[in-house]
Amino acid sequence: MTRQIVSVIGGKDEPSGTPYLSRNPARLKEVVAEVALADAATFAAACRSAASAQRDWAAVPAPVRGRVIASIGRLVEANAEALARLVSEEIGKPHAEALGEVREIVDTCDFFIGEGRRLYGQTVPSEMPDKNLFTFRTPVGVAAVITAGNFPVAVPSWYLVPALLCGNAVVWKPAEYAAASAAALHRIFSAAGLPDGVFNVVFADGEQTFAGLESALTEGTVHKVGFTGSSEVGRRIGELCGRHLQSPCLELGGKNPMVVMPDADLTLATEGALFAGFGTAGQRCTSLGTVIVHESIHNDFVARFTAAAQSAYVGDPARKVLMGPMLDQKFADRYEEYLTWIGDHHTVTGPVGRITESNPCGHFLGDDPNEGLFYHPVIVDGVRPTDRLFLEETFGPIVGVTTFSTLDEAIELANLPGYGLSSSIYTRDPRAAFRFRAGVSAGMVSVNNSTSGAEAHLPFGGNGKSGNGSRQSGMWVLDQFTRWQAMNWDYSGHLQKAQMDVTEIIPDLEYRI
Ligand code: UN1
Repeated sequence: MTRQIVSVIGGKDEPSGTPYLSRNPARLKEVVAEVALADAATFAAACRSAASAQRDWAAVPAPVRGRVIASIGRLVEANAEALARLVSEEIGKPHAEALGEVREIVDTCDFFIGEGRRLYGQTVPSEMPDKNLFTFRTPVGVAAVITAGNFPVAVPSWYLVPALLCGNAVVWKPAEYAAASAAALHRIFSAAGLPDGVFNVVFADGEQTFAGLESALTEGTVHKVGFTGSSEVGRRIGELCGRHLQSPCLELGGKNPMVVMPDADLTLATEGALFAGFGTAGQRCTSLGTVIVHESIHNDFVARFTAAAQSAYVGDPARKVLMGPMLDQKFADRYEEYLTWIGDHHTVTGPVGRITESNPCGHFLGDDPNEGLFYHPVIVDGVRPTDRLFLEETFGPIVGVTTFSTLDEAIELANLPGYGLSSSIYTRDPRAAFRFRAGVSAGMVSVNNSTSGAEAHLPFGGNGKSGNGSRQSGMWVLDQFTRWQAMNWDYSGHLQKAQMDVTEIIPDLEYRI
């Protein structure tokens, strides 16, 4: 029987809404879930419900909230296999990667269990006697979290876990094409004992969410917005939040460069490029955009990379494949548009486009490619700095290749598109690695590793078109979900005026030896 997915607000199901079908992208005939998409008023109502539950949640001692996070981690572990299977079924992520995604939630919980017993503030000396200064982290209030479906459970957990641990209430709007995975994660969180209203999930389309968010910000029931998605939508959310004097946490697209130096281990670089470019069918925000390879090794690298891509297995995500299907029809449609950017000056070896009986893939694993949104991996050699393929994010299995002669030129090319999420360099020379690190605009730099694969306890986020400088994960995300409050306590019994009643010790500044 098809799963019925509805929003949950204040612990209650919200069954009304516009019907939407979440389909299995590997077998489009299969409906994974029927979803009721809520309207803007429902989203705003969820924010009100969260606001009224938040105070009591913030009053729960942080170590006790940490225990709830511990329970979430255990429940995710206990449900790992089922959750990973659901993720594969709904968005086509190969099983091993889906298990890795689920692992990332557990890693995030593991980190924040301890934070429940830290959430450190400071004791700071005052400039006057009999007075002490302190800092406290206070929760922001209600966080509205809007996430993409390429990581339907891991990336949301980067927001949800720290937001809840810090004493905030949450309204989560997941991607509708990953609704069943999101609903399963929401049920797991609820089973850990979160009080009603502390964690609400609202399924809605982009426009209704935006309108609902605008009302909630106007009403004052949302105090932090977390958004993972395109740079275009991120810009709109940033503008909206700015009008309400809020700075959102924005995790946006990328055009992630990989520089291959003349001294690189080409076997390693090829393996890294293959996974970064075509793992998750190129649908990570950290996926490889362009390989910037030294002119002296260009032919050798391209030959190896092309051979690797053409012998990679594509197909049913339940089998041992590098690439499953596109996440959803709208991603396939957009990807087909990116393919039209391939021009006459480019070199492409092998088939391009949708895998079908008439456009077959020699390494397809599965029953019938026609049933799903399967595409050939594409390497486009000879991209130029003025090409759209070089400058814009192309979510999907397509990687550009260009050349450079000096490291400075490689760094300039790496930064040219104006994104700044992830990057990578293959070299054996520490000077080149550190010069690249200092010069590249990305928030994440890999040395002799692919552009994807961030670990859950390092800061994650982008610059330029990839974000507004906010960082998720580890201790850095605490600054997104708490605000610093400074307290001073004067127990001298009389008014001591800062900057005026301060004891002065007079130095002899004329002294010379
Ligand atoms: C994303 O695609 O939004 O580093 C995040 C990685 C993953 C996270 C990707 N751990 O590729």
